[in-house]
Amino acid sequence: MDKQHDYALQFKDVSFYYNPPQSILDKLSFHINKGEFVSIVGASGTGKSTIFRLLVGLEQPTEGSIFLNGDRETNRLGKVGYMPQKDLLIPWRRVAENVALPLEGKNRDYNKQFVLNRLKDFGLEDVANKYPHELSGGMRQRVSFLRATLTGSNLLLLDEPFSSLDAMTKLYMQEWLLEQWNETKSSIVFITHDISEALFLSDKIFVISDTPIQMIEEIEVPLKRPRNRQQLDEPSLINLKNELINRFKMKVT
Ligand SMILES: Nc1ncnc2c1ncn2[C@@H]1O[C@H](COP(=O)(O)OP(=O)(O)OP(=O)(O)O)[C@@H](O)[C@H]1O
Ligand SMILES: [Mg+2]
Repeated sequence: MDKQHDYALQFKDVSFYYNPPQSILDKLSFHINKGEFVSIVGASGTGKSTIFRLLVGLEQPTEGSIFLNGDRETNRLGKVGYMPQKDLLIPWRRVAENVALPLEGKNRDYNKQFVLNRLKDFGLEDVANKYPHELSGGMRQRVSFLRATLTGSNLLLLDEPFSSLDAMTKLYMQEWLLEQWNETKSSIVFITHDISEALFLSDKIFVISDTPIQMIEEIEVPLKRPRNRQQLDEPSLINLKNELINRFKMKVT
């Protein structure tokens, strides 16, 4: 049997341009196994968000194929949970109604209390009836994140989901995400600029170093689960973290 059926997602020789001839992806192949938590790191502008835009069907590859759960999918819109880098909250819907959006499609009588409980988990119960423009950047980010987790897809793509959060909220959200991941056995792809975050959360870190992206370097995180943050202070982890940080420094300077 074709091995690709074991994968949550797969790119096969995918090329992509926004404005030819400037290529963003050049015959890129990679896959993510079912149930894996993978972080993508790389300098700004290298094409990380573009990979997500291709995966969710907002863009189409110029060449090559994208597989979801083993099937070659040309119509990918609405098939994966997606939190874009810039939140797409609907301005005329209140917070609770924005969060409930993925539930409405499946079941018009979704449980309003369920949505309120989830908002409570995130300290957002007081803003349930507010509109997005009335929220802080960090609140908007949490609403957008919550909405993405409710799509019920077994694949969740999160584009810098915690970048606007204060340090404490960010730690809380990381723990919450790991709990959800444990419960749902979904596959998660997580773009971040925070190397410690990537190390704490992921099974593997995908490093993107050049545009056009021709290959992705995959680094296994050498930590068992369940994890605690003290493990990040072990010498081998500090070395790995510094190695990753230095790689980006070279790109910037
Ligand atoms: N809609 C678009 N039209 C044309 N070019 C675009 C578009 N979106 C992104 N680009 C370009 O494609 C390249 C990759 O952008 P992308 O947003 O994927 O980068 P990124 O790795 O996510 O960066 P960051 O870390 O800053 O979010 C950049 O050079 C960017 O300017
Ligand atoms: Mg981006």
